[in-house]
Amino acid sequence: MRDDRTLTHLCLVSRALGAESIYLEDAEKEVTGTLSEVNETWGGEFRAVLGASWRKVIKEAKGEGRSVVHLTMYGLPIQDVIGELRNLDRILLVVGGPKVPGKVYHEADFNVAVTSQPHSEVAALAIALHEIQSGEELKRTFPKSKLRILPTAHGKRVVEN
Ligand SMILES: C[S@@+](CC[C@H](N)C(=O)[O-])C[C@H]1O[C@@H](n2cnc3c(N)ncnc32)[C@H](O)[C@@H]1O
Repeated sequence: MRDDRTLTHLCLVSRALGAESIYLEDAEKEVTGTLSEVNETWGGEFRAVLGASWRKVIKEAKGEGRSVVHLTMYGLPIQDVIGELRNLDRILLVVGGPKVPGKVYHEADFNVAVTSQPHSEVAALAIALHEIQSGEELKRTFPKSKLRILPTAHGKRVVEN
């Protein structure tokens, strides 16, 4: 079953934490609409690619020399493989929904667990992006934004660019 709120959160987390793009097999206009608004207001060039099957996305990624890292509670602990992951040039991170086809486990170059406990694709994605980039993604800036936050200990400070 499609869950637009989860898809929106996957988009926003990917964008905020340094991914270039997200591939969604199937998404309502609401999801892409929210993402466009966020891009317009807060900047950056993150994009959603819609409509391609997971098979095609994985095949193309491999064809372009990207490594396929599938996040699953059944995989190897992220802390044991993080050195290898940080050395990869370009990565396609794969997260599942309620049911992940067995073929994904076989096609992935790495099956990686963020703990061996069941939790959430959004949390797994966030922690994997953070670990792979060694926290550098936290310093990222988003060009061509309409608004910019001036971080403050109390209250909210936002300026127009
Ligand atoms: C709600 S889970 C359902 C997983 C389902 N049991 C399966 O594997 O078919 C949805 C997604 O969250 C991610 N996920 C959940 N727990 C995880 C964990 N401990 N480590 C890595 N990824 C996890 C995986 O990508 C998974 O496909």
